[in-house]
Amino acid sequence: MIVLSHYQAGPLLEARRRGEAVAVASPDLNLTTVEVILEEGGVLFPCGERLSWEQVEQIAGAENKCFLVEEGGIREIRTFSEVTGWVRSLFPTRRAPTMLVSGLTMHRIEGVDPYEDTHRKIKAARPAGHVLDTATGLGYTAIEAARLAEHVVTVELDPASLEIARLNPWSWELFDNPKIEQIIGDVWDVVEEMDDQRFSCIIHDPPAFRLAGDLYSGDFYRELYRVLKRRGRLFHYIGDPQSRSVQRVMRGVARRLQEAGFSRVVHRPEAFGLVAYKQR
Ligand SMILES: C[S@@+](CC[C@H](N)C(=O)[O-])C[C@H]1O[C@@H](n2cnc3c(N)ncnc32)[C@H](O)[C@@H]1O
Repeated sequence: MIVLSHYQAGPLLEARRRGEAVAVASPDLNLTTVEVILEEGGVLFPCGERLSWEQVEQIAGAENKCFLVEEGGIREIRTFSEVTGWVRSLFPTRRAPTMLVSGLTMHRIEGVDPYEDTHRKIKAARPAGHVLDTATGLGYTAIEAARLAEHVVTVELDPASLEIARLNPWSWELFDNPKIEQIIGDVWDVVEEMDDQRFSCIIHDPPAFRLAGDLYSGDFYRELYRVLKRRGRLFHYIGDPQSRSVQRVMRGVARRLQEAGFSRVVHRPEAFGLVAYKQR
């Protein structure tokens, strides 16, 4: 599968302008590179796939889009979700892409890229043992948690999110790492069915407060507390602590986490979130 954005297509046009016959290009949004042949009519990839120069120009001119190359054609990676009514698309950066959900990016893209954003969440969460990832999204937190943990359960409400993840090279590990168990459903319902004290660590990276207020409620935090082992911890992503509205949400979240039973709540501004600890 070849997936390209303007970050890969632009340099191909430059190589052509310089009159080069071969170039190094990434077929998977800068994860790996291959040698491609620059022909009169377009670009030939080692797998035999060909792109015309018009198609390369179309990709290079679309700054906010990623494209799947299939059977000689190109298709923007974008879908409409019947479940949530949201349009989702893959949004390129120099490294891992993020997802645009109804115009909002799912990860940080200013100052840090989506993968650095993920590493900061993981560093704050310190996953180990059995981990619950409450919101799969593109699967970055689940993939990185699985490098440190024994087992990761990751839950996603919207199948459209996984449809986009399947076309994102940076998410592919989500689908073939045996340590990762995927569940499609509302995390609230899923957690309600789970046994007490099942997880050592929970990564809670929900949509913004205004889109999913129930995932910021005291009742939900009580459920997360229940399924967490003693001495376990919860990382809760909230948003930019410089923002007034995020500060307000953070104060409410910290209070409700303590009311739910968490003994200590620590601010992790570099990860745009909080870590809450369950007592021994
Ligand atoms: C901020 S993203 C998660 C990003 C993810 N941690 C990653 O690394 O790519 C939030 C995700 O939660 C999903 N979601 C929203 N409400 C949910 C719910 N009630 N249960 C499970 N997932 C939910 C959204 O569809 C979205 O894909």
